[in-house]
Amino acid sequence: MATHETSEKTSAGTSKIQPANGKLGIMVVGLGAVATTLIAGVEAVRKGLAKPIGSVTQMGTVRLGKRTESRTPLMKDFVPLADLNDVVFTGWDIFPGNMFEAASTAKVLDKDLLQSIRPFLESIKPMPAVFDQFYVKRLHGTNVKQGKNKRELADQLRADIREFKKKTERQVMIWCGSTEIFLEPSAVHQSLAAFEKGLESNDPGIAPSQIYAYAALSEGVPFANGAPNLTVDLPVMQELSKKNNAPICGKDFKTGQTLIKTVLAPAFKARMLGVSGWYSTNILGNRDGEVLDDPESFKTKEESKLGVLDYILQPELYPDLYKDIYHKVRINYYPPRGDNKEGWDNIDIFGWLGYPMQIKVDFLCRDSILAAPIALDIVLLLDLAKRTEELRGIGIQEWLSFFFKSPMTPEGLYPEHDLFIQSMKLKNTLRHIQGEELITHLGLEYYD
Ligand SMILES: NC(=O)c1ccc[n+]([C@@H]2O[C@H](COP(=O)([O-])OP(=O)(O)OC[C@H]3O[C@@H](n4cnc5c(N)ncnc54)[C@H](O)[C@@H]3O)[C@@H](O)[C@H]2O)c1
Repeated sequence: MATHETSEKTSAGTSKIQPANGKLGIMVVGLGAVATTLIAGVEAVRKGLAKPIGSVTQMGTVRLGKRTESRTPLMKDFVPLADLNDVVFTGWDIFPGNMFEAASTAKVLDKDLLQSIRPFLESIKPMPAVFDQFYVKRLHGTNVKQGKNKRELADQLRADIREFKKKTERQVMIWCGSTEIFLEPSAVHQSLAAFEKGLESNDPGIAPSQIYAYAALSEGVPFANGAPNLTVDLPVMQELSKKNNAPICGKDFKTGQTLIKTVLAPAFKARMLGVSGWYSTNILGNRDGEVLDDPESFKTKEESKLGVLDYILQPELYPDLYKDIYHKVRINYYPPRGDNKEGWDNIDIFGWLGYPMQIKVDFLCRDSILAAPIALDIVLLLDLAKRTEELRGIGIQEWLSFFFKSPMTPEGLYPEHDLFIQSMKLKNTLRHIQGEELITHLGLEYYD
């Protein structure tokens, strides 16, 4: 495997990054549309049936040194990432169907493609999940663990993880499960001691996603959150993450409408154009859309989608341009569209002397096609973080904010939402850990 050899060579240079030897086990919570598109996609790429389009780790490059040096290795050759051939999947779901059945239900990928990798997909069967309908009202599943309290359920997950550790050298867990109801941090989330007491007493502030995160981090396994749930965005998880050198990141994959928003909004700000209103609406017919049709789950998503503009446009710094924006986000469950979401944006902007203009965006996207490569990049980079001396013990991996709608940051630090700043942060972090010069884009050196 060429990539592997390159990786080991590269890491030897710094000796601060352990090489990606052996199997990387990816533990996916929630084997629905995104997860099956990820798993089937990786297998299709491995078999040479398709290309990993949309994956920054597989297709992206990192420029090194001056523009005149022509050094732009692929990201996967520049840093020692796990090779896709070394990736092994497992996961949990409340529905017992194997990955072929789940992918067929999700209807994201063509039947022909699924048939061509059918035995592989059939070999992955969901482990029984930790689930409570109180937290996701629209779902009813049977493949569910039983236990006296939340601590027992956490112990069962830890046993699943230990079992998987016997088959793989390294592990990463990623939440691709449904969006849970809106919860706010409470006393139970403030410390490990309080959280463990809460597991014993079945504290209602502890949602299933938190039990998975607790189990992963307790086992030293990095955890990524693809949904807008609190999950690891809590002091207890940050404590556990640092204590056990298990990196965390989240939350909520940045895919369709928010991706476009975080491209357009920085452009308006960079050119000092005002925004008076931004109306975003979606029609979506997959199971995610059905879950988000419940007002309590939608509230969690809404918070995640709304935060973006305020942080990018900084109305307190530019009150004349952005103080009174009317920002509205809607998601409408509309079954005929399935996973092929349509996202409309109407943006009211204003220019020189306050003259108004409008922009309309109609993004006919495919939700899981956009999310799957992001999920792949996140797990590969989290595994890298775990193997990197400088990153493994810091808890939140802010350099991965590029992939998220609501990037996690430590208390008191505002998140960076601008996609291009996030992209630079990601690549500069990779340059930094590999001992390469950071790129500032100053460029004066070319004019000496
Ligand atoms: N597709 C995107 O573009 C995108 C973007 C951002 C965020 N997300 C989020 O990613 C998540 C997955 O999206 P999806 O389209 O795959 O949804 P989906 O409904 O197809 O899949 C979610 C799966 O999670 C399972 N699940 C729910 N609770 C669980 C639990 N406690 N344990 C184990 N399994 C559980 C469900 O049974 C379901 O199979 C959602 O939260 C969604 O909001 C998706």
